[in-house]
Amino acid sequence: MPAIRTGKLFLDSLAGHVGERVPFWFMRQAGRYLPEYRELRAAKGGFLEMAFDPDSACEITMQPIRRFGMDAAIIFSDILTIPHALGQELEFLEGEGPKLNPVTDAKGIAALSFRDFDKKLEPVYEALRKTKSKLVQEGFSETALIGFAGAPWTVATYMIEGGSSRDFLNAKKMAYGDPETFSSLIHLLVESTAAYLIRQVDAGAETLQIFDSWAGALDESLFHQWVIKPTREIVTMVRDSHPHVPIIGFPKGAGGNYAAYAQETGVTAVGLDPSVPTRWAAQTLQIHKPLQGNLDPACLMAGGDAVVLAVERIMADLSRGPFVFNLGHGVHKDTPVENVAALVDLLKNWRTG
Ligand code: CP3
Repeated sequence: MPAIRTGKLFLDSLAGHVGERVPFWFMRQAGRYLPEYRELRAAKGGFLEMAFDPDSACEITMQPIRRFGMDAAIIFSDILTIPHALGQELEFLEGEGPKLNPVTDAKGIAALSFRDFDKKLEPVYEALRKTKSKLVQEGFSETALIGFAGAPWTVATYMIEGGSSRDFLNAKKMAYGDPETFSSLIHLLVESTAAYLIRQVDAGAETLQIFDSWAGALDESLFHQWVIKPTREIVTMVRDSHPHVPIIGFPKGAGGNYAAYAQETGVTAVGLDPSVPTRWAAQTLQIHKPLQGNLDPACLMAGGDAVVLAVERIMADLSRGPFVFNLGHGVHKDTPVENVAALVDLLKNWRTG
């Protein structure tokens, strides 16, 4: 079954191997909890300006790797680059998160276009090319490079709500009440996301992660229609161009829908959020696929013994199968850097057995 070992622990795990150490990286490992990120952010101004400046994006991607030596680097960018590239206005206001000019109807969707798509996303590809060589230059030749995108449902919520939302009422109202219009938006996102991911692999990404942060907001029927089906379509399109690239799907909050997601989307590996019971995941999901996860970011923020206990439980249940250690969601900005350092120390000295 598993392919030949690659020399990169992270890629080996995604290929189904169990190595002598569990590879790790952390979602949002680059970002505001790092003083060197905050310093660059203060000097450069806006978040989007940095994400679309290949030198800054490369530098920020490297920051956590230099400090902690994770087994994978994730390119510094955002899931909202796609709506931006399709022509939707996007800005990040300090302390408020993303703001978009909401797409509320068929007319709004028709106004989106691929006209400047490649041009607007070119800096992301350039950042990937730069980071790929930088990793080798700085001696991190065993660190894999991850590209990513948001899944259509999650990106659609931001496009329709015009930003972050608690209950996604406008997006759900469209999904239930006007499935035809909603479907055209999801279709556009499937096409654009697949194209974007393919170009990221062309530019050097060795693995892709699809973030479906709000997958947990949907009922069973909508979950199949707007999470599983579009994800499967993207996976199929990416595999047509790049048959071997590993794809990690992260349907945060999917609960009882996790098993169907793992079986039906075709993703290589599945990311678990903190609420997924690890023993259940080992018995139900890991017998089919590599898993990734799922330390609660709040536990890492608290630090101390709670982290050690949680790591012991997660490793006891999941390290006997193919596994990548991660958090169950992104590193919180108020996490003490020392807590991250202590976790990294624990993970580097962990031996499976
Ligand atoms: O993981 C990484 O280190 C790579 C970089 C990355 C960012 N965003 C950088 C970022 C990744 C993978 C993302 C994904 C992303 N972006 C998701 C999916 C994962 C998740 O967290 O659920 C979502 C939903 C977004 C949309 C987004 N971007 C929001 C809601 C916000 C504002 C909230 C916040 O944390 O500030 C962002 C901004 C953002 N994306 C920041 C970073 C480092 C903060 C920017 C800053 O103020 O400096």
